[in-house]
Amino acid sequence: MLIIKTIAEMRQFVSEARKNNRSVGLVPTMGYFHRGHLALMEKAVQQCDVVVTSLYVNPLQFGPAEDFAAYPKDLERDAKLAESVGVDVIFAPTDREMYPAGFDTTVSVGDTITGKLCGLSRPGHFTGVATVVTKLFNIVQPDKAFFGQKDAQQVLVIKRMVQDLNMNVEIVPVPIVREKDGLAMSSRNVYLTPEQRQAATVLYKSLQLAQEQVKKGQRDGAEICRLVKEKINSEPLAELDYVEIYSYPELKSIDKINGAALLAVAAKFGLARLIDNIILEA
Ligand code: PAF
Repeated sequence: MLIIKTIAEMRQFVSEARKNNRSVGLVPTMGYFHRGHLALMEKAVQQCDVVVTSLYVNPLQFGPAEDFAAYPKDLERDAKLAESVGVDVIFAPTDREMYPAGFDTTVSVGDTITGKLCGLSRPGHFTGVATVVTKLFNIVQPDKAFFGQKDAQQVLVIKRMVQDLNMNVEIVPVPIVREKDGLAMSSRNVYLTPEQRQAATVLYKSLQLAQEQVKKGQRDGAEICRLVKEKINSEPLAELDYVEIYSYPELKSIDKINGAALLAVAAKFGLARLIDNIILEA
């Protein structure tokens, strides 16, 4: 497996692959791999001839009071893990490579998708994501790009951007990977103390509660949100950010669940702000 740090070398590698008629898959990540990342890479290896995993903690998508400086990093460990699932290249550019002096262009996706959930809690976050993903698509020119469904809103932002800007890449969402007790895999789980780690299981439990309610015939979005909030608030270490339901994949406000709906939750446990979601089907 290669570790490439410059855009010029990355372009060179991809142009060789293309000359040999090989399809290219991209797995954009911020590193510190867990089984969720590895599931993205495995899917990419199944579907593409050559797989590039980008590893870049993108400063543009962090707010001033967020965890950019603390974000966990271990390139050596990540390289071993990526290699073990068959990744061909890790693209790990520096900040100067990605955002050289004078950089002054961003990509922003409209409010219908970004004006709610994490877009509201983290102003500027999705502009940072859309900008860096556009750059990665332009550099790697993948046939397919793989994103985790844990960031359901991010997947919709990227799909909207790809459609609106006629980007020639297929977006492949990959299901959430969970720990045995239901906690969704996240690089941020390393911030949790043992007590907070235990408390964080309340997120998935609250989603399961909602699913049971829908199975029993409950269709009232506000009532489901109320029950989910109550469940999360019953955990003293949880500091609730949001619990919301929208139509899926349109992300329109709904009162009643009639088709597919996204139930998304976010809460802080100490330093870790965690998100999770489930698609409820009436
Ligand atoms: O999901 C992530 O890890 C990041 O938002 C992404 C897509 C790699 C962009 O920095």
